[in-house]
Amino acid sequence: MTSLNLLLWIVLGIALQVGLFLGISFWQHWQSYSRLRQGLPEAAEALPAVDVPQKEAAGWSGFRRLKVARRVVEDSSGHICSFYLEAEDRQPLPSFKPGQFLTFRFDAPKADGSGSEQITRCYSLSDAPTPEHYRISIKRVPPAPGGIHPPGRSSNFFHDHIEVGTTLQVRAPSGHFYLEPGSSPIVLIAGGIGITPMLSMLNWCQAHQPGREVWFYYGVRNSRETAFAAHLGAIAAAHPNVHLRLCFSDPLAEDQAGKDFHHHGRVDVNLFRIELPLKPFHYYICGPTPMMETLVTALEDWGVPDSHIHFEAFGPASIKRRNAGAAIAGDAVAAPAGDITVTFAKSGKAAQWSPQSGSLLEFAESQGIAIDSGCRAGGCGTCQTTIRSGEVSYLQSPDCDPEPGSCLMCVCTPRTAVTLEA
Ligand SMILES: Cc1cc2nc3c(=O)[nH]c(=O)nc-3n(C[C@H](O)[C@H](O)[C@H](O)COP(=O)(O)OP(=O)(O)OC[C@H]3O[C@@H](n4cnc5c(N)ncnc54)[C@H](O)[C@@H]3O)c2cc1C
Ligand code: FES
Repeated sequence: MTSLNLLLWIVLGIALQVGLFLGISFWQHWQSYSRLRQGLPEAAEALPAVDVPQKEAAGWSGFRRLKVARRVVEDSSGHICSFYLEAEDRQPLPSFKPGQFLTFRFDAPKADGSGSEQITRCYSLSDAPTPEHYRISIKRVPPAPGGIHPPGRSSNFFHDHIEVGTTLQVRAPSGHFYLEPGSSPIVLIAGGIGITPMLSMLNWCQAHQPGREVWFYYGVRNSRETAFAAHLGAIAAAHPNVHLRLCFSDPLAEDQAGKDFHHHGRVDVNLFRIELPLKPFHYYICGPTPMMETLVTALEDWGVPDSHIHFEAFGPASIKRRNAGAAIAGDAVAAPAGDITVTFAKSGKAAQWSPQSGSLLEFAESQGIAIDSGCRAGGCGTCQTTIRSGEVSYLQSPDCDPEPGSCLMCVCTPRTAVTLEA
């Protein structure tokens, strides 16, 4: 064999090996891509399957008294304060699923000074479950610029009047937004005070699945609005599998890119395209309505399966899912197209509801009928009203189950002509 022949054989051998390597790599990537498109888990997941508690927590019915054991300010501007709650008898508290919330009821002075009024509000649990305490973290809602709207009643009442030792009336943890069982990689996306349920999920993962891959995107304006910064930084520093991304839309002059924040701008899908590896991530989102509306649609457009997108709004937000049937549990159906007669029995009024009228709560208010409301998002049960006749449908699955024969007016619309007790 000449030396030229030998060289050719060597080159051929190398070419074959390279071809084989490329073929195997391509096949593996194709398998991974196919699983991702179908929303299936990765073929081999290294983590043990430690699941979030799926059994309904042994909570309590109605309201129970819990005592404030500690208050901690969580941001440099002092706008976000955590409240640690304990059982009055110091007995262990029932567990909950990371992402769930508590409902509070209390009397607060009316804005015009004419006595007090009962207020009901929901606040997400902002820490992993522990028998010793529950933690909630509340952001002060300031008055609207120009004083056109008053300051938030509940949030400011908590900040200004709820001290260590105060007892509060609290309903048991509830809610359908929580970390799903399994160990698939997750992307937690928080906008502003929407960080609270995300933190509960992150802390739960640290306690039970410290090796789980977590990407944590936190969108705020700048360092003055960043809450829990030290805690988040410590977790990311200690766990290479936790990727923290602070996104500042309006950094202060002293905020340093790379040190105080990672990305100048809002959280958006382009960031995920650039940064996230090709894996079947589950996305959990909680933030202001515009952020949620944009992100949910963009994730769907990107091809993320519906079953991998989980979100919660802290108020009335109607996020349209492309495939609503997959996203909404229960008996939700599309709103009817035409006008429907709604009768308010006690008020002695009847009017034509149309799809533009919004929820039955908004419709009642537009007719001058006052209905007690709290969360306006199907979470607290305050707007529950008896249905005398007819049927309603839910455009989003309520967190609070209405009693048989009644409806939660803030999240339902009429399906047929309906008569309500109100
Ligand atoms: C499931 C869930 C979880 C939540 N978790 C958290 C949490 O972890 N942390 C947190 O801080 N919040 C959370 N929230 C939000 C919280 O429940 C309250 O909605 C929030 O604290 C504001 O309540 P408020 O009583 O202070 O404000 P409200 O008094 O209810 O006022 C709300 C807004 O309406 C404006 N307003 C008042 N009157 C009028 C008017 N006449 N016309 C127009 N606008 C008006 C106010 O200026 C204010 O901007 C959660 C909500 C839900 C549903
Ligand atoms: S206002 Fe809370 S459920 Fe309707």
